[in-house]
Amino acid sequence: MFAVYCEKPDNENPLAALVVGERPEPVVPDGWVRVRVTHASLNRHDIFTLRGITGQDTPIPFPMILGNDASGVLDDGTPVVLYPLITGPDRAGDETLDLGWHVLSEKAQGTFADHVVVPRRNALPLPDGLSPLHASVMGTAWLTAYRMLATKSGLRLGQTMLVQGATGGVSTALIQLGRASGMEVWATSRDARGLDLATGLGAHRGFLSGEPLPRKADAVFDSVGKATWAHSLASVKRGGTVVAMGMTTGRRVEMDLLPVIVNQLTVAGTIMGTLEEMRDLLGLVVGASIVPQIGDVLPMERAGEGVRTMVEGRTRGKIVFTR
Ligand SMILES: NC(=O)c1ccc[n+]([C@@H]2O[C@H](COP(=O)([O-])OP(=O)(O)OC[C@H]3O[C@@H](n4cnc5c(N)ncnc54)[C@H](OP(=O)(O)O)[C@@H]3O)[C@@H](O)[C@H]2O)c1
Repeated sequence: MFAVYCEKPDNENPLAALVVGERPEPVVPDGWVRVRVTHASLNRHDIFTLRGITGQDTPIPFPMILGNDASGVLDDGTPVVLYPLITGPDRAGDETLDLGWHVLSEKAQGTFADHVVVPRRNALPLPDGLSPLHASVMGTAWLTAYRMLATKSGLRLGQTMLVQGATGGVSTALIQLGRASGMEVWATSRDARGLDLATGLGAHRGFLSGEPLPRKADAVFDSVGKATWAHSLASVKRGGTVVAMGMTTGRRVEMDLLPVIVNQLTVAGTIMGTLEEMRDLLGLVVGASIVPQIGDVLPMERAGEGVRTMVEGRTRGKIVFTR
């Protein structure tokens, strides 16, 4: 079948590790279902895979088809959207706390292909009112943003949230979800183009990266990592929360503990989201008529162009590949 995959990772030049070609049709294990992929969205995770970097404790078994997220159709014709976390059979409660969870393209083949197989519980019926295009971005970026905002931030309606780095998939989701949920939304970006995107999506105010703010925010959302971390800690009010979930510009940061202690800051790490949060997210997106920001839609054969856009830091929300 057609597939976009990584044969051999390249840490220096991830684009060179991308192969557009053919891979074997997947075998469907017991309890799993086959999905014909119609839309699959790109995540930073795919760049990390092309570079050979994984959060799992075992190396990625290359060749590996890329892609964490998709919408598509089951063999019986049911339209579905994928919940991305695959857990062990004994899981109970919060899936993100399961010690063995993984996402597609880490241990099982990913979504950038004609077909993908997933555990039956991971294929959710496509809700009425959500297109397959928009559903394909829900799994990783939007689910993560939902958990950051709804579960981890400690924000109350009307409070001020600062989103670092406006143009990314998670950041645009945070801006749109925050605005729809009644927050005062502020965003930073490296340039005016990013600030225009942020305000167009509903941010009340935009600031260039590192710029001092007129006052501190109740919570700061940081997916950028090293480049914005110091500004994130300096921008949160006493008793507030910095939600950390990304390391696009590097994972090792310096942290002065004194302001963390004196200002009683909470630094909350977070990863992905639960199946229940995914259902709530889908309900919110449909109920509030949110149209997720998608910057590029490309046929899957042109996946390399989308990967290049992300590697070069030129995203405008999510990038979706169609099949
Ligand atoms: N914890 C989780 O569950 C989880 C889930 C999804 C993603 N992530 C992580 O979150 C991060 C963002 O993911 P994403 O899919 O939203 O990525 P993305 O679409 O590529 O977004 C990158 C973001 O980083 C900002 N940025 C600042 N400095 C940058 C630089 N030097 N180069 C590139 N971008 C820079 C950009 O904002 P401006 O251009 O506006 O400055 C943009 O918002 C990644 O590290 C990813 O691995 C974590």
